[in-house]
Amino acid sequence: MKRRSFLKSSALAGFSMPFIHKLSFASTTGKAAGPLVISSANGLRATAKAMEMIKGGADALDAVIAGVNIVEEDPNDHSVGYGGLPNEEGVVELDSCVMHGPTHNAGSVAALRNIKNPSKVARLVMERTDHELLVGEGALRFAKAHGFKEEDLLTDEARKVWLHWKETLSETDDWFPEDNPDIPANYKELTKTTGTITCLGIDLNGNISGVTTTSGLAFKIPGRVGDSPIIGAGLYVDNEVGACGSTGRGEENLKNLSCFLTVELMRNGYSPQEACMETARRIIKHAKIPSLHRADGRPNFNVRFYALNKKGEFGAASVYGPTKFSVHDGKENKWHQGGGVLKYKK
Ligand code: GLY
Repeated sequence: MKRRSFLKSSALAGFSMPFIHKLSFASTTGKAAGPLVISSANGLRATAKAMEMIKGGADALDAVIAGVNIVEEDPNDHSVGYGGLPNEEGVVELDSCVMHGPTHNAGSVAALRNIKNPSKVARLVMERTDHELLVGEGALRFAKAHGFKEEDLLTDEARKVWLHWKETLSETDDWFPEDNPDIPANYKELTKTTGTITCLGIDLNGNISGVTTTSGLAFKIPGRVGDSPIIGAGLYVDNEVGACGSTGRGEENLKNLSCFLTVELMRNGYSPQEACMETARRIIKHAKIPSLHRADGRPNFNVRFYALNKKGEFGAASVYGPTKFSVHDGKENKWHQGGGVLKYKK
């Protein structure tokens, strides 16, 4: 079947259900136990929104995207969408991907400027093109072709954080910092971390989907792309096994295709929690180059994994834990505590 006509028919509500049920029947694992939505620590509003939609009968992909859109549009989350910290030139560049379990289809955008909901554009790449990933200028033009309006994503607070970073980079350049800069109290924490939100869901039909979206590394080199738009790195879904999403240092995730690894570990019998721990251990083992080490030899970065499986089990783990994460199990929406391979120490 031609992809175009397949997409057209699969877009009709309900098509995926009988198709997936048939597939699930053929598998040994059967239909996933839902509803369930999990997300990173900054995703409690996302899990609430996604669960509300899932309970109303929404497909998991619609639900998780609507969930993360809340955080993308929040100027106070400096790691995602509008209000995200910019690149070294003061321009916000966003990365995102979506993956739909029932069709095993995916779409991504990277280094997208001026559009505050990259996850919506990633979804359109999946549904309205024959491609998987669009970047930079091409991604922006594609978004505009679909009616997205350009807007300045740099909030005043994010601009002040960036300006302070720029003005304190060197003692010998021509930029002088203010004596009492008007920057958030958690400036250091803000500028060292890669935030990101990931959200994974199982809907009432037992189908699994996920989304990851980020403004990436603060003050990155323009054009830097992290793990968040890369399927297998920042997100992976296998409708017959489960899903994994990730936040934290994208470079290490890219080198390990960590979300794909986590799902494969679950396929081989690991629980979501054990799979996330094992992936974090693998990341640490592979972090061999000196630039990734603190003076005491431990990693100088963090990466966090969040996973769920078809049985409706979930877990999370990081290089440095414990890992706070958001879970809506259909009854309660709250933070849970996952594992960590290492504990922070000064
Ligand atoms: N995980 C987000 C990034 O590294 O861009």
